[in-house]
Amino acid sequence: MSYIDVIVFGVLISSKCSLQGAVFPPWFKFGAASAAYQVEGGWNASDKGESIWDHLLHTRSDITAESANGDVACDSYHLWKRDIEMCEELGLDMYRLSISWPRLLPSGFPNHISEYGKNYYSNLIDGLLEKGIQPVVTLYHFDLPQSLQDLGGWANPLIADWFADYARVVFTLYGDRVKIWLTLNEPFGICDVGYNLQHAPYLNDTEVGRYLCNKNTMLAHAKAWRVYQEEFKPRYNGKVSLSTLFIWYEPLTPDDKELTELTIEHWEGRYAHPIFSKQGGWPPKIQQFLDDAAKKEGYHQPRLPPFTAEEIELVRGTYDFYGLNHYTTRKVRKARPDEVIGSWPFYGSKELGIVLENDRSWPVGAVDWFAMYPEGLWKQLHWLKNTYGVNEILITENGYVNVDDDLEDWKRMKYIRDNLEQIQYAIEDGVNVTGYIHWTLMDNFEWLAGYKVNFGLYAVNFTDPERKRVPRESARYYAKVTRGRSYDYLHVGLNYD
Ligand code: BGC
Repeated sequence: MSYIDVIVFGVLISSKCSLQGAVFPPWFKFGAASAAYQVEGGWNASDKGESIWDHLLHTRSDITAESANGDVACDSYHLWKRDIEMCEELGLDMYRLSISWPRLLPSGFPNHISEYGKNYYSNLIDGLLEKGIQPVVTLYHFDLPQSLQDLGGWANPLIADWFADYARVVFTLYGDRVKIWLTLNEPFGICDVGYNLQHAPYLNDTEVGRYLCNKNTMLAHAKAWRVYQEEFKPRYNGKVSLSTLFIWYEPLTPDDKELTELTIEHWEGRYAHPIFSKQGGWPPKIQQFLDDAAKKEGYHQPRLPPFTAEEIELVRGTYDFYGLNHYTTRKVRKARPDEVIGSWPFYGSKELGIVLENDRSWPVGAVDWFAMYPEGLWKQLHWLKNTYGVNEILITENGYVNVDDDLEDWKRMKYIRDNLEQIQYAIEDGVNVTGYIHWTLMDNFEWLAGYKVNFGLYAVNFTDPERKRVPRESARYYAKVTRGRSYDYLHVGLNYD
């Protein structure tokens, strides 16, 4: 492998290749991301409250690969200075981190603010700013206080106010220093995955609980956005949105077009339309579809709880940019009669009668549903602009999953390169994409997959008590990308074979 001349990690690396790709505009920012439960560890440090992941994995150690949990994870609770150093090595403009709600508010409520929690995040934020790295802070990345789960969690409508109270505490503590906020990471993951035995709270309630959760996440986001807008924006002038996960969908055959549109409304629309569309509320086709289904099933109420006119207005327009998490693309086709349909969200949906597949021409990553089709990102960026007319898109996650621990992770480099290329094409087309935040800074606790899969630019040795971090080739590559502001530092692996 070879690269152009650049000094990274104190080493001069030469290359035969020349810079060909256009340079990203100066306002375009590069970053990397992490999330509290996946990296911090320190699960019971000081007065931290228990999160739903602590609770779940201390009671159901059988559900993760190798019974792993995030008790120690990357130990970023202690090693945060090293994390900042890595961000610096990578030449990042931004680092996306999340705040653990139960670390800051051990009871879940603002009656007690943990001094330890408060200082931990304050030091991390200050440390980043000292190095000229902008913190992008997510208020909630899947780790609800267990005390609130015991009160119904995201299925309880009161959670919207509990979340707004928590948000107010966070904005008060760090609003002077943090200018980009994400309220929720992937409400799809919170509800569609968390109520489908794939994430905490690990409930099996895809018919009712999932949709209560869907509505309440929308209200919670909106209330937090409005808290910022009314109480903090005039002073701090930051931006607030949420991160939505969007797999791009394409019809397998022309006959599957309508089902594909319904799938997009089901997956993305339920979490984006209420906020980003001009009319607000649920996407009409999926709402009708689910209402009809509920009637046939004998329910007396819609399973997807309707918004009142007041709620539609509360939620509509509560964004300052679009935060997009994108990994891959799937083909949609109608399931054949009697076909066994794989599980939502990656293989199909019994509810919609669809099967999700890869196109045969797409290289597949280490996980069978993870196809490499960067053009999907380009199409999706256009779709967001055309559908919602969003003024700005920030890519808040995009990354490559691997199962071996190879430091020579050239497929990850190619993945980054190809996705950045598509982003650049979209920018040239007039889509205002203002940044790319790579998932993830270092290998971490990957939910039910434990430590068996990795997404990290840095490898972490999880058997070492020091949790040593080692840069992969992708870290070296990305460091050149951020400094040269171009993806064209790579001429290995023209394809994925
Ligand atoms: C989540 C991360 C997760 C990543 C890779 C995203 O959907 O926000 O927490 O680690 O996907 O699976």
